[in-house]
Amino acid sequence: MKKNDIIENVEIEKLIFGWQWLATAEDGRKIIITGWAIPRSKVTLRILKVHKNRFEAQIMAVTTRSPYERELPTHWQIYGGCKWLAIPYKVQTEIKENQIKEAFHILKDKTESTQFHSIVESPETEWYRNKVEFSWGKYISAKEWVHDEFRFGFHAPGQFDRIINCTHCILADDRVNEIFRSVDEYSRLSWLPTYDPKTGEGFWRHLVIRQSKKTGETMVIFSANTNYPHWSRKEEWDLRIFINTLTQKYNDIVSVYILYNTGRADIVTGEAILLHGKSTITEELLWNRFEIHPKSFFQTNSLWAEKLYTTTINLLDKKESSTPSWILLDLYGWTGTIWILLSQHFKKVYSVELVKEASEDGKRNALLNNIHNVEFINMKTEEWLPGFIEQKVNEPVTLIVDPPRDGMHPKATKDLLAFGSDIIMYVSCNPATLVRDLMILLEENTYMITDVTPVDMFPHTHHIETVVRLEKIKKN
Ligand SMILES: C[S@@+](CC[C@H](N)C(=O)[O-])C[C@H]1O[C@@H](n2cnc3c(N)ncnc32)[C@H](O)[C@@H]1O
Repeated sequence: MKKNDIIENVEIEKLIFGWQWLATAEDGRKIIITGWAIPRSKVTLRILKVHKNRFEAQIMAVTTRSPYERELPTHWQIYGGCKWLAIPYKVQTEIKENQIKEAFHILKDKTESTQFHSIVESPETEWYRNKVEFSWGKYISAKEWVHDEFRFGFHAPGQFDRIINCTHCILADDRVNEIFRSVDEYSRLSWLPTYDPKTGEGFWRHLVIRQSKKTGETMVIFSANTNYPHWSRKEEWDLRIFINTLTQKYNDIVSVYILYNTGRADIVTGEAILLHGKSTITEELLWNRFEIHPKSFFQTNSLWAEKLYTTTINLLDKKESSTPSWILLDLYGWTGTIWILLSQHFKKVYSVELVKEASEDGKRNALLNNIHNVEFINMKTEEWLPGFIEQKVNEPVTLIVDPPRDGMHPKATKDLLAFGSDIIMYVSCNPATLVRDLMILLEENTYMITDVTPVDMFPHTHHIETVVRLEKIKKN
């Protein structure tokens, strides 16, 4: 086989790291595949690169459906955010669990005594999202004979420049879908055009609906190019009348904003102007309250977040009794969802977080929950750690690390190893960087991994979270 060859009838074996697929060529070499498929479906591939021991290829078409594929109700549609919808949930969790097992294979000599727990499933597999982001746009393609000036919905799977109209988002609950449909109808009748990122012209950009799963309070956020020349007082007045009608119909909408989003990047940003109701909505996680404003960072699956944090707390408590004199370092603290739930067990908490706004949210959340033992550090973990280590604190320190997808900075991982706290809880959203960082933490036989628990964060997506507990090896 050579570059650009088309090969047919190739069976997809499994998902591998980097969210690519694996198959085997006739000569026994492995094929690493990009594109969208379901394990055991048969596909047509185009060879992109030929290596000595493997090929890289791209999916051109799915020719035979996988036996795993399930029939979907007619009103369910697959968008970019729910690509696994056609895979039964049980199969999804099996794929994810196997992925974690395979990721840890490289550490097999160091995990003989590790307990690998079953995956913690999401409490809800549909309508679990507490934040849904819809986009407006046009879709014009001479090749497909399409000229559609007004689309409102989601990006098509893997296609960032193409929006497909949404009929029903299965990850959002019925109320969010009803609100979406009302806004859809209104915006189409408004005569204001959708925004075109290529020219910077047009008005409608994004609609974000945030909904507290515990209190039911809902926030509606319009993101629009308010520099659009035909956006005037009249149009603003019309929008306000629409919002009035909408909030009368759905009284759980307690907050409505418009974001003056005039930049070119396709992101939900801009000055937030409150058009109706209160400035925040309130969510609860394990009896703690969190105030959410339009730009707040917050886990998008509230019920799942409770499971993740309970898993973390239970593992943390596993062998050590929580002593009030302990110090907790949350090295990627975000808005404090983890440390808020743990702070009462510790004398002092340090929340190290790079993004200032996330730290600010954390401060608000601490006050709201009457927590006063947290110090906020707005720095990179890798830059803050050496100074902390130099202080040589005498009290035992528990470490929680929950880094972004890229994992930890190697310098920070080395510093953690040198620091030598008794317990490290590593929460990860990327098995590849998790294992890479663990390899460093397991150097020098200082730590052992006692537990590994996969937690399913987003059903119908490839995302998987893993909680790992490391314990310092007691040397005689
Ligand atoms: C996965 S999130 C943490 C989630 C959080 N622990 C929770 O409550 O669920 C990772 C966080 O690390 C922050 N971050 C990224 N790089 C960082 C760095 N070098 N130092 C400190 N924080 C960083 C990000 O801004 C983000 O808030």
